[in-house]
Amino acid sequence: MDYKPLKTGNLTAKVPVIQGGMGIGISLGNLAGTVAKVGGIGIISAAQIGFKEADFDQNPEKANLRTIQKEYEKARKIAPDGVIGFNIMVAMRHYEKYVEAAIQAGADLIISGAGLPMDLPKIAGASQVKLAPIVSSEKSVRVIFRYWEKKYKRQPDLVVIEGPLAGGHLGFSVEELEMYEEECGNLCHGSVNSGSENRGKKKYEDEVRKILETVKIYEEKCDHEIPVVLAGGIDDASKVKEAFALGVDGVQVATRFVTTKECDADIRYKQAYLDAKKEDIVIVKSPVGMPGRAILNTFQKKVRAGEKIPHSPCHGCLHKCNPAEIPYCITDALIHAAKGEVEDALLFCGANAYKATKIETVEEVIQDLFKA
Ligand SMILES: Cc1cc2nc3c(=O)[nH]c(=O)nc-3n(C[C@H](O)[C@H](O)[C@H](O)COP(=O)(O)O)c2cc1C
Repeated sequence: MDYKPLKTGNLTAKVPVIQGGMGIGISLGNLAGTVAKVGGIGIISAAQIGFKEADFDQNPEKANLRTIQKEYEKARKIAPDGVIGFNIMVAMRHYEKYVEAAIQAGADLIISGAGLPMDLPKIAGASQVKLAPIVSSEKSVRVIFRYWEKKYKRQPDLVVIEGPLAGGHLGFSVEELEMYEEECGNLCHGSVNSGSENRGKKKYEDEVRKILETVKIYEEKCDHEIPVVLAGGIDDASKVKEAFALGVDGVQVATRFVTTKECDADIRYKQAYLDAKKEDIVIVKSPVGMPGRAILNTFQKKVRAGEKIPHSPCHGCLHKCNPAEIPYCITDALIHAAKGEVEDALLFCGANAYKATKIETVEEVIQDLFKA
């Protein structure tokens, strides 16, 4: 199968793949730059991006803003002509400032989820940066398109659909995750592993088709193409093929890139993926109640047993977090992950992470995903 490049406005990625943003510290300049160099779209995660800076504990916001620039420059040096963007979560405190810093650094694209990026066009202003919301349902795509059109007279430049097999925080309730079970088609292969009984099956493909129909309506209205990219559990050439057969213009892949040589995570984090078995991948609740997917390690077992994990002074990451009430600090747990302290860490991963058997290069992963 021949794949067309992924295009939005003046941006063209020769290979229609976006490397999904992975925080904290998993997709930084090295991974994003390498993906962009090979022809895909490289995405740096802005989530607590300054965690290695000496002043991070005292002033996380300042450290993050400075590091946005640094990691962008690193990526740009690797891929002078590549497409490089940032993943910036709506749920982050100082979201606006991080978006502004990414634009100032020179980002081609901002991808924003973990909430609906309702006012992203206002923050981007007259800048040429491309804007892409992440959605998991037709309802959310409709809400965003309507609101952006009414308030800002513009459309998203690209839409990322994130399905139930993705890694990190998920845009579904635990009940919804239970609905999307094994037999919902190739794109839903692998169990959602929510730990409870399968209470019914629903095809996520149906939701993808509905989202595509809604985007089409707006495409016709505005008379230009709005590419749609599908994410979640896409980890081999057959799933890439199946995604395109549904009518999307590209795929977003994250988990496969963790076990690459160029991924910015510590080697022990990558090894945790290589060691994981299918039953080790579980649905977890983040401290602020959102479901996510991660490896069941010592840390996660403690959390499940109701243990309260002591944490460092608040780093001010999420809007909704109350440090006095949380079972653990998500920033602490994800920084442990990035640093390779894997038994004390929240090890986010996609549903198919257990399939990784070796460390590869980014180029090998991309060739494998798009092989005939
Ligand atoms: C380790 C890890 C961290 C992630 N962190 C984020 C994040 O900070 N923000 C976000 O929007 N998505 C995050 N994601 C989701 C990915 O960007 C991507 O959309 C999704 O995982 C794709 O599914 P796949 O991992 O099965 O390929 C993360 C995924 C993983 C595996």
